[in-house]
Amino acid sequence: MMIKNSHDNLLQVVRILSDGHYHDGDSIGELLQITRSAVWKIIQKLLNYQIKIDSVKGKGYALVEPLILLDRAQIQKNQPEIEIHLFESIDSTNQYLKTFKQVKSPLVCLAEKQMAGKGRFNRAWHSPFGKNIYFSCLYPFQKDVSELAGLSLLTSLAIVDTLKNFGVGEGLALKWSNDVMFDGKKVSGNLIELQAETHAVCQAIIGIGINVNMLEEEETIQQPWTSMQKILNQYVDRNALCELLIKNLLDYLNRFNHQGFAPFVKSWNEWDCLVNKHISLTNVNQSFSGRMLGVNEQGYLLLELANGEIRTFSSGETTIMKNATL
Ligand code: BTN
Repeated sequence: MMIKNSHDNLLQVVRILSDGHYHDGDSIGELLQITRSAVWKIIQKLLNYQIKIDSVKGKGYALVEPLILLDRAQIQKNQPEIEIHLFESIDSTNQYLKTFKQVKSPLVCLAEKQMAGKGRFNRAWHSPFGKNIYFSCLYPFQKDVSELAGLSLLTSLAIVDTLKNFGVGEGLALKWSNDVMFDGKKVSGNLIELQAETHAVCQAIIGIGINVNMLEEEETIQQPWTSMQKILNQYVDRNALCELLIKNLLDYLNRFNHQGFAPFVKSWNEWDCLVNKHISLTNVNQSFSGRMLGVNEQGYLLLELANGEIRTFSSGETTIMKNATL
C-alpha cells in the first residue's frame, strides 16, 4: 500500500506515542479526528509489524522502544524536485521500480518493510518494519549498460560518505563489490539491476539496504552483521539519513554519468579491506585465489594469481583467506 492518508494516521499515532508516555485511545482519536476503534486498528497494525507497544487499562498505549517513522515531507524538504514513492509495506523496492519505463529524471522508492527484499546471489534481504532503510533509485543513463560496471562500487562509496557523516568512523570499510562493513560485519549492501533501452540509453535500479536500528533480536540473517544503532549506541533518525543518502547518491551518480568510474578508483582502493589480501573469488561455478590488487577504471577487481598472471573480474563473491601466505 502506497503511503497516503491511512499511513498519515499511522505516522501521527507513532508521533504521539514517541514521547514514551501513555496515551489513551480517546485522546489520540480526538487529536487525529478519528474514532477510538480506528486508533485501536492502527495499534493492532503496529503490533502485527512487531512494534513493541505496552497497553495498560486506564492509561492507554506507550511505545516500549523509540520509533520514528519515515516521513516523505521531511526527507524532501531540501530537495523537493526529487520524486519519492513511500510505502508502508511492499514486496521489494527494486521490484516496484521495474514497472517504470524510460523515466526522464531519478525516481526514489522507500519502504518501511519489504516482504520479499532481495539481496545478491538470490539471497533474501531481511527487512523488518520501521527499523532500517530499504531504498531504491531508478536512474536514467545516457550510457550503454557495458559502461556501468562501476555503479555498485560508486553506490557503496556514497553510502560510506553518508555513514561517515552520521558519525560512523574507524572500523568502516568496503568489500568489493557491494558490501559496506564495520569491524568485519556487514552494515549495508546494494543490488543493482540494469534495464537496457537502446544502444547508449539505459536505466539502473540502485537498491540499497542499510541496517539502521536493528538490534539483537533478528536471528534469521546468515552472515555477520551490525547496524548503525549498535555501532553508535544510539537510536538513528532514518529521515535525516535518507535525506543525506539521496543527496550523496545523486551527487555521485551525476559525476559518474559525466566522468565514469575513473575519478573514484583511488578512493575505492583506500576503503577496500581486501586490497593486498589473499582472497578467494567465486564467479559462477569457478573459484580463483590470489592477491587482490585493487580495482581498475571500470571497477573490475584485479587478482594476481599464483603464477603472476593478473586477471580482472566484473562480478563474484570474495572471501579473505585467513591462513594464506602471499
Ligand atoms: C546485498 O548485499 O546482497 C544487497 C542487498 C540489497 C538490499 C536492498 S533493500 C532495498 C532494495 N530492495 C531490495 O529488494 N533489495 C534492495
